[in-house]
Amino acid sequence: MNNQSIPIITIDGPSSSGKGSISRKLASELNWNILDSGALYRIVAFSAKLNEIPIEKESLVKNLISKLKIRFKLLDTFEQKIFLNDCDITSEIRTEICGQNASRIAKYPTVRDQLVGLQRGFLKKPGLIADGRDMGNVVFPASKLKIYLTADQNERAKRRYNELKQKGINVRFAAVLDDLKQRDNQDKERNIAPLKVSPDSVLIDSTNLSINEVVSKILSLSKLRNIF
Ligand code: C5P
Repeated sequence: MNNQSIPIITIDGPSSSGKGSISRKLASELNWNILDSGALYRIVAFSAKLNEIPIEKESLVKNLISKLKIRFKLLDTFEQKIFLNDCDITSEIRTEICGQNASRIAKYPTVRDQLVGLQRGFLKKPGLIADGRDMGNVVFPASKLKIYLTADQNERAKRRYNELKQKGINVRFAAVLDDLKQRDNQDKERNIAPLKVSPDSVLIDSTNLSINEVVSKILSLSKLRNIF
């Protein structure tokens, strides 16, 4: 089996549309590999801060990437642990500030270029679920099933707000909504690899759907298209 015949399902969409949970569930059900590409942008932003590299300096941020030793581990509970140089940084990279910094460095063409190779390296047998903003359009354009997952902005902010509260993080709903709007705009309006629905993708609106309902929909589409 060469790399071109390994099946890939790409799941792109805005923040808090449910991509992460759905990708993890799909990967677990199919026993496939998973690429959380947003985590890679977050890790780069986190490492830049850790190494006191100014986020504004594109070339310094880009040079950092080849030095990073990154490892993902998917647990039976569908949770994903993320290690940088063998340190567990799973919760550190999930903060609002790290998300904002990730979105800032995601605008740099050289950073995106450098991450493409790393992302394609996740394509291994028996298959890959790739989640992000440009998985179908840029990183895996040959994917035979490209999903664009979205949900109403207020609903996405509500999900994010509840997630933060559950973790004991005290935030105002208005602040979460503002952050989400800002990140949506930044991701959609950047010049390189902006977040957009491609003509060959299937749009799923998860506003009124449960995680299991979205997973079932994607599995049905996969069967229809003979993905596996
Ligand atoms: O998905 P997540 O919120 O973890 O992604 C963090 C940020 O990384 C996004 O707001 C986006 O700017 C960037 N990103 C990207 N391309 C991807 C995945 C994430 O630009 N494929």
